[in-house]
Amino acid sequence: MKSLKNIHSESVPIGTDLDIARSALEAGQLVAVPTETVYGLAGNALNEAAVSRIFAVKNRPTFDPLIIHVADKALLNKWAVDVDDRAWKLAEAFWPGPLTLLLPKADSIPDLVTAGSPRVAIRIPAHPLTLELLGELSFPLAAPSANPFGYISPTTPEHVAAQLQKGVAYILNGGSCRVGIESTIVGFEEGEVIIYRAGGLPIEKIETVVGKVSLKPHSSSNPAAPGMLKSHYAPRTPFQLGVVAELAKAFSSQEVGIIRYREYLAGIPENQQIILSAVGNLEEAARNLFSGMRALDALQLRCILAEPVPDEGLGRAINDRLRRAAAR
Ligand code: TXA
Ligand code: MG
Repeated sequence: MKSLKNIHSESVPIGTDLDIARSALEAGQLVAVPTETVYGLAGNALNEAAVSRIFAVKNRPTFDPLIIHVADKALLNKWAVDVDDRAWKLAEAFWPGPLTLLLPKADSIPDLVTAGSPRVAIRIPAHPLTLELLGELSFPLAAPSANPFGYISPTTPEHVAAQLQKGVAYILNGGSCRVGIESTIVGFEEGEVIIYRAGGLPIEKIETVVGKVSLKPHSSSNPAAPGMLKSHYAPRTPFQLGVVAELAKAFSSQEVGIIRYREYLAGIPENQQIILSAVGNLEEAARNLFSGMRALDALQLRCILAEPVPDEGLGRAINDRLRRAAAR
C-alpha cells in the first residue's frame, strides 16, 4: 500500500492558472484541459514530440487519431482544406459545442495527429477556460480524452488525477463537465453526411441543419474511423447490458452494481446502484453516466449490470457507450 503522503507527492498540480497551462504547452508539455464534454489531454498539435507524448501517456496505439481543438471558426480554413458548405453551416449552428468535424486536412497538420489519414478532426470546445487558453496559443491543441486508452473518459479533474500522473504537467480545473459525454463526430462522404460517433450533440439537432444523416457503425476495421473500437469506455469490472431485473437473478445482491435510467431495482443495496436521472432527463443522464460507471467500478463488484435508456436524443450516445462498455 502506498502511503497518502507518497500519493500526494506524485500527484499532478491542479489549478486554474492559465499562465502555467500556456507556458507548459508552449514548452511541448501536456496539460489536461476541461471541455463541456470530457477532460482532454492536450498538447501542441504542430509539435510531433508533444503529440507522441500524448500517445505514450495514454498508452494509446498510434493508429487512433486525435481531435484538434481551436478557438475560432475561421481556423477551419487554416487546418482543413475544401471545407464542405454543410460543415460551415454546422460550425455556425453548434460551435463552440460538442461537435467534431472530419475534413480534408491541411499539410501543416502532422500525419501523426491523423494517424496517416488525409482527414483531420476539428472542434471548438464550449468551456470558457479552455477557450481563453486556446485564444492565447499560436497552435491548435491535439487532445484525446484524458484517460488511459480504453477506460472511461474523465468528467472531473479528480478523475484525471486518479489515472494519469507521469507526463502530465498540469490539470486545468474547470469543474465538472456540463455535457459529460464525448462530442458527436460528423464527416462528409460523396454528398452524404455521416455520423461516425454519436455524442453530446444529438443527431436530431444536426438533421435540422443539414437534413437526413447516415450512421456509420464504428469498428476497428472501419478505415474512416480507425480508433472507434467496439470495446471502449470500459470499466475494469465485467459489464453486462440488458434487462437488469433478469440479469441480476444470476448473482447475489452483494455482488452486483446496477446502472438504470430512473428507478432503483428492488433487492439490491442502493449504494450499489446508479440512477442516471430520476426525472427522466437524458441530459442529466449523460452528465451522470461516466462518474457513475467509475463509482461502481471502484466498489470492485463481481459484475455491473446496466439497462439501456430511451434511444433518442442524447440517449443514443449513452446507449452507444453502454454497449461499448459491455463489449469488453
Ligand atoms: O468530446 C470529445 O471529442 C473529447 C474532448 C476532449 O474534445 N475528445 C475525445 O477524443 O473524445 P478521443 O481521442 O478520446 O476520441 C476521438 C475519436 C477517436 O475515436 C478517433 O478515432 C476519432 O475521434 N478521430 C480523431 N481524428 C480522426 C480522423 N482524422 N479520422 C477518423 N477518426 C478520427
Ligand atoms: Mg477517448
